[in-house]
Amino acid sequence: MIDLALRSAQDYHNAKAAATNNSESFWDDIANQFEWHQKWDKTLDYDFHKPEVKWFLGGKLNITENCLDRYVKSQPDQTAIIFEPNDPKEAAQHISYKELHSRVCRVANMLKANGAKKGDRICIYMPMVPELAVTVLACARIGAIHSVVFAGFSAAALAARINDADCTMLITADGGFRGAKITPLKDIADEALEQCPTVQSCIVLKRTGQKVAWNSVDIWWHDALEKVDDNCPAEIMDSEDPLFILYTSGSTGKPKGMVHSCGGYMVYTAYSFQNVFQYQKGDVYWCTADIGWITGHSYIIYGPLAVGATTVMFEGIPSYPDYDRFWEVCAKHQVNQFYTAPTAIRALQKHPSTLVDKHDLSSLKVLGSVGEPINTEAWHWYDDHVGKNKCPIVDTWWQTETGGILISSLAGVTKQKPTYATLPMPGIQAVLLDNEGNELEGEAEGILAIKHPWPSIARTIWGDHNRYKNVYFSAYPGYYFPGDGALRDAQGNFRITGRVDDVVIVSGHNLGTAPIENALNEHPNVVESAVVGFPHDVKGNALHAFVIVKDAAEQDGVLVSELRALVAKTIGPIAKPDRIQVVSGLPKTRSGKIMRRILRKLAAGEHDSLGDISTLLNPDVVQEIIDMR
Ligand code: WTA
Repeated sequence: MIDLALRSAQDYHNAKAAATNNSESFWDDIANQFEWHQKWDKTLDYDFHKPEVKWFLGGKLNITENCLDRYVKSQPDQTAIIFEPNDPKEAAQHISYKELHSRVCRVANMLKANGAKKGDRICIYMPMVPELAVTVLACARIGAIHSVVFAGFSAAALAARINDADCTMLITADGGFRGAKITPLKDIADEALEQCPTVQSCIVLKRTGQKVAWNSVDIWWHDALEKVDDNCPAEIMDSEDPLFILYTSGSTGKPKGMVHSCGGYMVYTAYSFQNVFQYQKGDVYWCTADIGWITGHSYIIYGPLAVGATTVMFEGIPSYPDYDRFWEVCAKHQVNQFYTAPTAIRALQKHPSTLVDKHDLSSLKVLGSVGEPINTEAWHWYDDHVGKNKCPIVDTWWQTETGGILISSLAGVTKQKPTYATLPMPGIQAVLLDNEGNELEGEAEGILAIKHPWPSIARTIWGDHNRYKNVYFSAYPGYYFPGDGALRDAQGNFRITGRVDDVVIVSGHNLGTAPIENALNEHPNVVESAVVGFPHDVKGNALHAFVIVKDAAEQDGVLVSELRALVAKTIGPIAKPDRIQVVSGLPKTRSGKIMRRILRKLAAGEHDSLGDISTLLNPDVVQEIIDMR
């Protein structure tokens, strides 16, 4: 462990004051607790107008030495990763720091032996098995930039991400277990690679044992691994060298490859992990996210390992073999900190509470929530049934772009308030703005913005710095604009109210509506489409697609299933709209812009609060849409 601890409300207030008064010396003290090959000569260089952010300039390090080597010295036999397989009958694995270090080094050598080198982009498309975490760390070991693509994405989405970063290598598996199903990862990867000229080798892990096709670029993981040993000194990286790229949806069709750097990301994920979850040496911590998302990067792998924690990796889903799997696993591994998403809580809450109550959850000390606003009912169910009213709940607000948690209570240290993310972390200057960009004081509701950089802010969008500027720094010059709205109570607690842009959070997954519309428009019978979110009791939000068709005679049912299949193929099953409604027109402004605000109200069934629609180009279409539902 490193001493980063905030153990009382007073510690929090002191840290907050120190970080606000002298952010550089505050972060210097924290960064000093890590192992650097060379100390930085400047702590921070930034200009939100350019925009440019750099932390710990001139510092040299390798994040894997901080996550592995130093714990091999101090606690070699401590469990680093507990792997819980999809099938409860398959044995769990306990991988010690020593063992993990050896596995990472060996895989790092395997990557090198197959041509990978510092700065190369390596795409990882794998199930939630330990080899995924090992591969991520192996890339970091040799200074290759990893780009993990969630294993639920389609071939087209995978290819787009590989090509955006010109990845030279793909690491995948034959298939992945997910509940009672198998995802044919290799088949999907094969289809993707037909469109990816830069990929020179594809390393395939055997997980399901299913039959797969074999191409000239393919290499079996186990064959390649046999040829190398586990002696792999870490590549020395500059603090600002990219560590990874992770794609997130935006308001245009193209995914944004957020780039995180080595030094600042390490410092902030470790600091936030330890303090938010109040992790104590020997605790077992479990985050149920997938490593395909930022939560998995920061709070399954890097944050926990950087403080020497024991982190659980779960391959399965909450409903398999039954709806008590989470609680069974908590009891089995004596989990102390449990971190999940509101959508999972809402899905489980629908089942009898005896499914929770029959398991011994007395090891739990802290519960966490992430990914979307948590509603009151879910919050209380989580508190009553899982936490038995004795576990603080940390509602952590952050983003792929922020790298780590920016607003959250610190478990048991600062006050919680149901459905509120509460207070910004030390060093995070969160403000609320009105539409003109004026800062609001005291109790208020507005647009959330951050005034000053923190170490783990994404440095750019891969290959498109201009877009980085436009999306995050142009709406309100001088601030980082996350795209969320929020309200603040008199005590300064923040409650996130939801997105203020065209991103919809469905079951905790960030989905841009633009790429879904592009997919729908590919259908030969679709002229135009508009996709909006509407409230859904389990998923938080679901998607409603309004489509204008050429030939209204086509059978609705056929069209709807074709459109859903098209979205699944282009993006992935998570993006399939729940509702597809054929309409004769879309409400538009006189300048031809689709009025999404009105469509959102229509999709939510809020016909009485549409506001003034008389200025629309085609007000009649609104009544028509209402009548047709
Ligand atoms: C939303 C996930 C309310 C928010 C870590 C944000 C939340 C987007 C919370 C980022 C929370 C995340 N309360 N909303 N505790 N956490 N969000 O990039 O809209 O997948 O902008 O990162 O999720 O999603 P992302």
